[in-house]
Amino acid sequence: MGMCGIFATTNDKNSAQTILSGLKKLEYRGYDSWGIAVKGRTRLRSQKQVGKISVSQTTLPQSNMGIGHTRWATHGGVTVANAHPHFDCSGKLALIHNGIVDNYQELEKKIKGHKLIGQTDSEIVAHLIEKELKTEKDLFRAVKKVVRMTEGFNAFVVMHQDFPYLVTAKTGSPVVIGIRPGANMLSSDVASLLSHTKQVIFLTDGQIAKVAPDKVRIENYSGVKKIKPVVQTIDWTAKSASKSGFPHFMLKEIYDQPAVLIKIVESKIKEVREFAKTISKAKNVFTVACGTASYAALAGQYLFSRLAGRQVTPAIGSEFYYNDGFINSRSLCIALSQSGETLDTLQSVKFAKDRGAKAVSLVNVQGSSLDRLSDQTVLLEAGPEKAVASTKAFLAKVAILLLTASALKRKTPRAVIEIKQAIRAIRKILSPDYQKYLKKLAERFKHSHSMFILGRGVSYPAALEAALKIKEVSYIHAEGFAAGELKHGVIALVNQNTPCLVFAPNDETYSDIISGAMEVKARGGIIIGVSFKPNPMFDYYLPVSDSGSGTILPNVVVAQCLAYYLAVARGLDPDMPRNLAKSVTVK
Ligand code: AGP
Repeated sequence: MGMCGIFATTNDKNSAQTILSGLKKLEYRGYDSWGIAVKGRTRLRSQKQVGKISVSQTTLPQSNMGIGHTRWATHGGVTVANAHPHFDCSGKLALIHNGIVDNYQELEKKIKGHKLIGQTDSEIVAHLIEKELKTEKDLFRAVKKVVRMTEGFNAFVVMHQDFPYLVTAKTGSPVVIGIRPGANMLSSDVASLLSHTKQVIFLTDGQIAKVAPDKVRIENYSGVKKIKPVVQTIDWTAKSASKSGFPHFMLKEIYDQPAVLIKIVESKIKEVREFAKTISKAKNVFTVACGTASYAALAGQYLFSRLAGRQVTPAIGSEFYYNDGFINSRSLCIALSQSGETLDTLQSVKFAKDRGAKAVSLVNVQGSSLDRLSDQTVLLEAGPEKAVASTKAFLAKVAILLLTASALKRKTPRAVIEIKQAIRAIRKILSPDYQKYLKKLAERFKHSHSMFILGRGVSYPAALEAALKIKEVSYIHAEGFAAGELKHGVIALVNQNTPCLVFAPNDETYSDIISGAMEVKARGGIIIGVSFKPNPMFDYYLPVSDSGSGTILPNVVVAQCLAYYLAVARGLDPDMPRNLAKSVTVK
């Protein structure tokens, strides 16, 4: 069923309403359709709908126990029949699922005669449990038997009208148990539980749990031994997970960035020095990450070579398995991820660890699968990031890599100065006049079919990240290029009025990037210059004061804001772009 949001209550005065608001906080995980089921007096009652959660009230009766789901479709179209929860033939059992049951066609053969109403892999599991319940007579044991038959990366939550507890099982997709006296809860993430509790248990792969209002029993799929739950306290506030008055999470999180960078330079130096020590002991170092995180890793490659003279090989998570000849017990795998649940990144780390490598992760979500899988973790502490388009987590990753590269040469104080300069530059970009100008630029270019972003050196990954932001939220086909590559082919795409954002920082790339801008302008392109000084080449100029090696930070903030205003100017929702989800928990 892909990357969905699951939320459940065991004893809430109005569970349907509580679940609805929980699902709204999880919509970044998938927003094709949603559904809730609650216990009724004699049978389960449910409400399912296609599209985003636009209602504020459910039509369901008051009930104390319920499960809910928001979907990102993989198997079966976006229909009410394929929305979750799925039910068995009796209608007494309901199931919600996040992930993909790889062997669902095999399993379907075991439920001949059962009536399926949709086309999903999840519904088959609900009927399998119904079948096993006939012999097991116990919901926990029936679910345990069935989840052991399933293959793939999944999370399930099951409720039955006749049993006073919920059952949840995990092999891949995240499950968080919210500990609340007499009213335990379940969710896909921590942030959606914060308004109820900060005491959580992270279920790990291959674990199944019986969650009753006042107790939790955890076992491994394979054993019957009771596992002692590890309750963790989360230091995020519900407010930090809200929009705090901003129209969208994306803009709120863009404005969070100065505070995020201050927290890093004030509280992460000791950890960064530890991280640098780990790097100095490794023979070969590579990074693994996906999407925006992979562009932060690529920026890291430039920063480590320039500031520490250290080679760090970046790899994209989904491609990592195909080039493994060099991984051994002297290797260090640095994994970067906001969610800590991206499957391709997790699998790459397991792949590297299976070959003896040590794993360090830069991750934002405490207790996530990547955090628990790693030998050493540097938490980004950027606070909850809800918008699908990642912003503050990118800046936090790059700032930590900049500090770490400097720490390898005992030059951390210099990096701290540069990041503080970057914070001042970002504050200028976030000022009302500057924002007004960016909004005007977005109005000017909102009908563009394509847009080019040029950079050299560390500004090349910045260009890739800028293009991804614009693509993700405005659907304009933006491409980031290493500017030197232009004349080797892609300049053929430039025609009259092609907008071209050019990163021209005060470093060794300046003169070459300006000549690249001239070549584009000569073919009718419109140059939007992001630079520390104006240049006659620029048709539009976005000033960003020089912050040395930290200049990539404010440069990317300019692009984040432009992407945001382009999306708004095109009447789009920047927080929930089509076809995307915040953390990609499927292959
Ligand atoms: C970025 O805006 C996207 N949401 C996406 O590229 C994301 O960076 C990628 O899926 C990796 O996610 P992670 O950082 O949570 O691992």
